[in-house]
Amino acid sequence: MLNRGGLVAFPTETVYGLGALARDGRAVAGLFAVKARPSFDPVIVHIASASALADLASEVPPLARVLAERFWPGPLTLVLPKRAEVPDIVTAGLPTVGVRVPRHPVALALLEAAGQPVAAPSANPFGSISPTTAQHVLDGLGDRIDLILDGGPCEVGVESTVLSLAGARPRLLRPGGITREELETIAGPVDLGEPAPRPEAPGQLASHYATRTAIRLAAPGETAPPPGLRAGLLRLAAVTPGDGYAAVETLSAAGDLREAAANLFAALRRLDALGLELIVAESLPEAGLGAAIMDRLRRAATSERVTGLT
Ligand code: TXA
Ligand code: MG
Repeated sequence: MLNRGGLVAFPTETVYGLGALARDGRAVAGLFAVKARPSFDPVIVHIASASALADLASEVPPLARVLAERFWPGPLTLVLPKRAEVPDIVTAGLPTVGVRVPRHPVALALLEAAGQPVAAPSANPFGSISPTTAQHVLDGLGDRIDLILDGGPCEVGVESTVLSLAGARPRLLRPGGITREELETIAGPVDLGEPAPRPEAPGQLASHYATRTAIRLAAPGETAPPPGLRAGLLRLAAVTPGDGYAAVETLSAAGDLREAAANLFAALRRLDALGLELIVAESLPEAGLGAAIMDRLRRAATSERVTGLT
């Protein structure tokens, strides 16, 4: 299907991706069209092993090799200066390319079979919640793509960490499945993505991960729903009382951040399907995976409500 220019959704350890051959500019244009993705937003290129990195990146600094060795296959995307062969549509005209080796066996088998790099954004309409099951992909894009490979629910549940190694110092463009703390044990201090004149990663767009239902972060100490509103509560652990809420989703009964990340998007979708007037999300500690989870929740909370997104 890929070799014929088709669009194939596949599981990765983070979220489901929607793949097209990276060298096939027409097929990649199709990716942007079905997602309604703005052309300024570059797509991550997926490879089967780090040995293919030099086919995409014109410079591979030693730190990139060390990070690839330590974290690939896994949820880390490295942004490096690109080779001329990488089509501009993949990188949105940027001089850099984002690359990763996913950890899911189905993704790796697909990449091996394709025998070449696969460009893949998350398999959801632009700006909505990323899919962590094949059913989520079907719900959002099912009638517009060629094939969905069902590999079950994604293990990590939040997208890859995007780290730029194209500048003088490593810069974190999107927090994700590999924590900043883990990166810093190897890379030393990492700069945080600053708002660019145009977003370098739409992880940087203030509004993303939109639900139909309005979301806001709980105020410190807030334990009851706003009077008169049918509200849902998204909480980390079973510690916060859920009394008075019309629905409660607990990300991890034991308060485990890995389990919480894995459940985040599916829990948000379930709350969003209930026709509530408001979703109140409990704030989590920002350490480790908490940073990626809070990043997603903040962007969901600043999203303008868009009906009919999916
Ligand atoms: O976990 C993931 O990364 C998933 C799976 C499918 O691999 N993919 C994913 O793709 O989340 P997407 O398109 O939803 O997000 C890709 C992010 C965007 O924020 C994009 O701007 C950034 O990576 N990105 C890609 N190439 C880049 C580049 N050359 N420079 C800066 N940011 C880049
Ligand atoms: Mg996405």
